Amino acid sequence: MKVYDIIKKLAADGNLSDEEFKILLEAESMAIGDTLRSEADKVRRSIYGTDVYIRGLIEFTNYCRNNCYYCGIRRDNKNARRYRLTEEQIMQCCSEGYELGFRTFVLQGGEDGYYTDEIVCGIVSNIKLHYPDCAVTLSIGEKPKESYKAYFDAGADRYLLRHETASEEHYTCLHPKSMSLKNRKRCLFDLKEIGYQVGAGFMVGSPYQTTENIIEDLRFLRELKPDMIGIGPYISHKDTPFAQCKNGSLELTLRLLSVLRLMFPYALIPSTTALGTIHPQGREMGLKAGANVVMPNLSPVGVRKLYQLYENKICTGEEAAQCIGCLQNRVNSAGYGIVISKGDVKRR
Ligand code: SAM
Ligand code: FES
Repeated sequence: MKVYDIIKKLAADGNLSDEEFKILLEAESMAIGDTLRSEADKVRRSIYGTDVYIRGLIEFTNYCRNNCYYCGIRRDNKNARRYRLTEEQIMQCCSEGYELGFRTFVLQGGEDGYYTDEIVCGIVSNIKLHYPDCAVTLSIGEKPKESYKAYFDAGADRYLLRHETASEEHYTCLHPKSMSLKNRKRCLFDLKEIGYQVGAGFMVGSPYQTTENIIEDLRFLRELKPDMIGIGPYISHKDTPFAQCKNGSLELTLRLLSVLRLMFPYALIPSTTALGTIHPQGREMGLKAGANVVMPNLSPVGVRKLYQLYENKICTGEEAAQCIGCLQNRVNSAGYGIVISKGDVKRR
């Protein structure tokens, strides 16, 4: 089958055979990427119009008990200066964010034992008490089911936990033995069962990743049926074991965003900061390729540089207001518009 027929088939069926996915992802012609993006944009516009949802990202701790080989805030990075935000500081971020039009707050951090379930629940319920019209998203890693349930009962609506890779073999290349794909998947299915809107995803071009691994990721996502899917290029960090590895590619990330839009027409898919880091117009390109969410930083300016998952991370300087102003211009210039709403996933 010709590559253009493969794109048509993906647009019509939302699925392909493994061989067809491989041809599409590995095709060298840039024109193929353009066709794919335009098909994805058609589907996105048919469901979401030109709407782009904003999520206010609060990176509240860079302490982490894990040691993922790719991550700049891994436990063994002794060069990372560590910080934690107090509940008051988090509430202050929400207050500024609310004024600026945010109706979703994403609390993200390393797996930091300082924030016990009781503390997390307290923060979540405090945000819901002050901003009952807002959604709270957590992204704080792998926890027992009871903890997820407690956060949900305290008011958390959504949870982001990238599966990172759906291949057992690849997973062990990226993580130490203390971590397992089995537990990562267990977490994702627990979260769904509890009733969260769930986000999964992976890095594009992470060390040792093959096209076959990516196809496994797509198959896993079909099984999980997440509401949100986060992908971004892998970007190296000098203080990790992968310091010498090369970054993921812009073209492959854009192609995958389009493939995901065609496979999951209703999904909420962010155009990530990592994409904006590898190319100055990366996030605009991501939106044109099918993404429909942006996640500006609401963390206090003083700590932004410290949440350094990878090098040259953008948006670590501006105030929240400047950050959203800049993104608004970018979204408009790409032909879309930011909407002020919780932006729950649309369902068939
Ligand atoms: N601790 C939580 C977790 O594990 O889900 C949330 C924080 S973790 C830093 C958020 C995401 O950052 C990870 O899921 C990973 O995909 C991404 N990330 C980490 N290091 C990265 C790198 N070097 N390049 C690109 N993305 C990276
Ligand atoms: Fe824990 Fe990256 S190793 S957040």
